[in-house]
Amino acid sequence: MMKGLKKWRLFSLLTVMTVFLSACGEEYISTLRPAGAVGKEQLDILILAIWIMTLVVVVVSAIYLVAFFKFRRTKVGENHMPKQVEGSHTLEVIWTVIPIILLIILAVPTLTYTYKFADVAAMDEVDEEGNKTALTVNVTAKLYWWEFEYPNQGIITAQELVVPTGEKVYFNLIASDVKHSFWIPAVGGKMDTNVDGINKFYLQFDKESAGLNDGEGVFYGKCAELCGPSHALMDFKVKALEPEAFNAWVTAMQATEGQTADRESSDIGEATFANSCLGCHAVSAVAGNGLGPNLTTFGDRNRVAGFLEHTAENTANWIKDPEPYKPGNTMTGTYNVSPEEAEAIADYLMTLSVEK
Ligand code: CUA
Repeated sequence: MMKGLKKWRLFSLLTVMTVFLSACGEEYISTLRPAGAVGKEQLDILILAIWIMTLVVVVVSAIYLVAFFKFRRTKVGENHMPKQVEGSHTLEVIWTVIPIILLIILAVPTLTYTYKFADVAAMDEVDEEGNKTALTVNVTAKLYWWEFEYPNQGIITAQELVVPTGEKVYFNLIASDVKHSFWIPAVGGKMDTNVDGINKFYLQFDKESAGLNDGEGVFYGKCAELCGPSHALMDFKVKALEPEAFNAWVTAMQATEGQTADRESSDIGEATFANSCLGCHAVSAVAGNGLGPNLTTFGDRNRVAGFLEHTAENTANWIKDPEPYKPGNTMTGTYNVSPEEAEAIADYLMTLSVEK
């Protein structure tokens, strides 16, 4: 009986681990399969550190095993006294110098890359007309969603970051409420978003996101700092496009200037949205920062609320009562719509698109 129970436990543990680890190694989220220059260089440092650690473990284990077997009492006798090495000058030098050398081998590339990754001088470079030459995105983390503003393009979006491939993309990171952390595992290490100060870094996207994860076509982004009950649900997505496709997207976003929802619309969804939601959620990408996520590209998104499957049904359920989906979110209780109106709003939101 006990034996059967133990087997069953082991089986459940393996099942749970399989589920947890099943996403590991996937290109859309894996640090071990970097999709950009920064991620590759960070992985190089990781691998160097692992090699050094492996070397130390192997050498120490070997010495241990030699001592273990060579000096067994059955072999050397009860009264054998091995050669005493206490205070040996040579040995002391050897086991002091070797770790120092290993640390230097690790420290030189680590420090070099650390300074390289923090080099954001290009953010201030301008062309003859005074326009900034580097692509900059202002990231604002909020409970529990992400705002992405492109200051030089004059556009804003939320939840889905869109970037061009093959160039450095610079980020200004800030939070509006509590500390969060901006992380795109497949493209580079995370950086905190603080309330009282801007953190800056850059990432490079060298692989288009199209076709990733069975056609989802996005890299996954995460909040990597425990920020409240819905921290684990504070996801975002990243579309990495070829430069021409990115420029087309920017143009389409800029063309939404002045777009709004009509209170008098015959579409109940649009009219209700205009009355109940427009105060916080803009439907133009040229609207500036909003209290809630900008919804101009809602129909193009990959997920509802960052993690739910992108369907009108999920959107309607979210609008009816977002609290069970993302506990502690700032939208709960700020509006009052009937279930029918929520469904109409969801249908209306699905039509908002710059890609179609
Ligand atoms: Cu935001 Cu964790």
